[in-house]
Amino acid sequence: MSTRPSADNGRRPVTIPGLLEQKRSGRPIVMVTAYDYPSARAAEAAGVDVVLVGDSGAMTVLGYPSTVAVTVDEMIMLTKAARRGTEIGLLIADLPFGSYEVSDEQAVATAVRFVKEAGADGVKLEGGGPASVSRARAIVGAGVPVIGHVGLTPQTATALGGYRAQGRSVESALAIARGALDLQAAGCFSIVFEAVPSVLTDDLVPLLRIPVIGIGAGPAADGQVLVFHDLLGIRDGAGAKFVRRYADLQDAMNEGVARYAEDVRSRAFPTAEHGYGMDPAELARYQARRGEIATVADDLAQLLR
Ligand code: KIV
Repeated sequence: MSTRPSADNGRRPVTIPGLLEQKRSGRPIVMVTAYDYPSARAAEAAGVDVVLVGDSGAMTVLGYPSTVAVTVDEMIMLTKAARRGTEIGLLIADLPFGSYEVSDEQAVATAVRFVKEAGADGVKLEGGGPASVSRARAIVGAGVPVIGHVGLTPQTATALGGYRAQGRSVESALAIARGALDLQAAGCFSIVFEAVPSVLTDDLVPLLRIPVIGIGAGPAADGQVLVFHDLLGIRDGAGAKFVRRYADLQDAMNEGVARYAEDVRSRAFPTAEHGYGMDPAELARYQARRGEIATVADDLAQLLR
């Protein structure tokens, strides 16, 4: 099913059994989001295990206020671009809101599109309730690998009371635990835990056979995921508590574009070194016939009159 090109740098492409082995051996799994060719290349260069075309791309690259509005076609376009930059990492695409909730059939049809049209190796869906578990089981049954996602599920953040940590009451913690175990039973090969108390991760990681990838879920998770734009500071504002920022690229981009604009306005750019010359003999011939430009301009002016 995979459309991945074969690796040529000595590193073998990441596989699902390989990720399960990483959990067993305690080697942390690295996941990062990517939404286009350059972000996927950055993930690849870092040897990232799983590249997630998250629906966070709705906000980070498409400028929507939340993940809710992004369409399947938009996500497929982002996934195709990330696919072109990903050879080694496992490429997973988020199923966007509204593309899998209606029925198992709808969920399978959407998941298959991501694999066939965009070259994804698998999909991720949100929620640990009976409907999400049923969708996960159906998609796995159709042969598409699935990652589950419990805790803070941004697609349904309004119903959860906003972008806030989940599982902080006994009932909520137990519901998350039940959801994670049900998603595993449905055939998911991994689960994202987002913004849940660390103690819940501590307890669930040993109970689950499949790797838990945490984001704001504490250090005990089998792996970690961060949003590309958050970790590189390609955003305004600090972002969520669980983000560690490794660069301030938005500042660097703003400064670079501002310096370019200033150079254009002051005519400091471009200079002779950025232009193209002519071979001396050809230049001499051109100079001899330069007057023809004025004739062409005159002819055009007559035509437009
Ligand atoms: O959309 C996304 O980026 C995600 C990660 C935060 C896990 O779902």
